[in-house]
Amino acid sequence: MFENRLTDLLGINYPIIQGGMQWVSRAELVSAVSNAGGLGILSALTFSTPEELANEIQRTRKMTSSPFGVNLTLLPTMKPSNIDGYIDAIIDEGVRIVETAGRSPEPYMEQLKSADIIVIHKCVAVRFAKTAERIGCDVISIDGFECAGHPGEEDLTSLTLVPLTVDAVKIPVVASGGFGDARGFVAALALGAEGINMGTRFLATQEAPVHPKVKEWCVNSSETDTMLVQRSLRNSHRVLRNAVSERVAQMESNGASLEELRPLITGQRGKQLLENGDLNQGLQACGQVVGLISSIPSVQEVIDGIIFEAQEIVARLKSQDNE
Ligand SMILES: Cc1cc2nc3c(=O)[nH]c(=O)nc-3n(C[C@H](O)[C@H](O)[C@H](O)COP(=O)(O)O)c2cc1C
Repeated sequence: MFENRLTDLLGINYPIIQGGMQWVSRAELVSAVSNAGGLGILSALTFSTPEELANEIQRTRKMTSSPFGVNLTLLPTMKPSNIDGYIDAIIDEGVRIVETAGRSPEPYMEQLKSADIIVIHKCVAVRFAKTAERIGCDVISIDGFECAGHPGEEDLTSLTLVPLTVDAVKIPVVASGGFGDARGFVAALALGAEGINMGTRFLATQEAPVHPKVKEWCVNSSETDTMLVQRSLRNSHRVLRNAVSERVAQMESNGASLEELRPLITGQRGKQLLENGDLNQGLQACGQVVGLISSIPSVQEVIDGIIFEAQEIVARLKSQDNE
């Protein structure tokens, strides 16, 4: 029922993508999403070397025969990342789908396209989507202000951004940011998107390789339990509200420099938080849709549930139309 250009292009059953998540998008979660008929995406930057990424690609392939992708986050990082090395590993391991994010993938397009790789570019503004189409990307994933991670600096929510992007490009658009259930999925399709991309919903699943306390926090928190930090660095970051994010926001309002913020915003602290479940250890990406999360299902239950309920919603809308 929900087959379209996106499912055909990616070779998946359902137009549901699990966006790349640093420290979280490992073989366990990615293979579960792909096995359930969606598209799982590994996160290259989770692995400190291209060799480690290659090993994880091999591990994922042992766990699923369905397509999966690799995310390349091109944002500035504290430690320079070896993007060329990761791309070589992706190509050598025969991965067919790459999700780019953070900045334009233009410098890498020639290499990716000559290896016949499908490029999904995740971005936060209509003008970036248009550029991505012009340089040869195959799919746009458009991230609204609600999203976990980096929503950009323009504060445009998905309800506005998705249809504007659909109108601006011809290639398939995936709605990202604020999607977590069947209602959001059907709404995304109504806005003209051909699929949804979710991060936060997949963080609170059985297969997500993070400490159970992180998943429980997702269940117990509300839509107001996230906040933006790093706006003063023009690198806004939506994270769970905790002692560190409150401290960072306070330091920013007092004019703190990157050097002063660095010890608190380092990704290593976020990694430790996910591993040991100490929720005040560091910054942790989390989207507003966390307010909709009330259980910790398996990935299969999430995807089956969305598709089943979406069919019911569509049937209900059709029957109302006939009354
Ligand atoms: C824990 C976590 C880590 C994330 N890490 C990354 C990342 O490294 N690179 C990236 O492009 N997006 C990252 N994201 C964003 C997701 O891929 C996705 O775009 C976003 O979560 C969609 O919004 P949602 O959380 O409302 O579903 C992360 C999200 C979460 C929840």
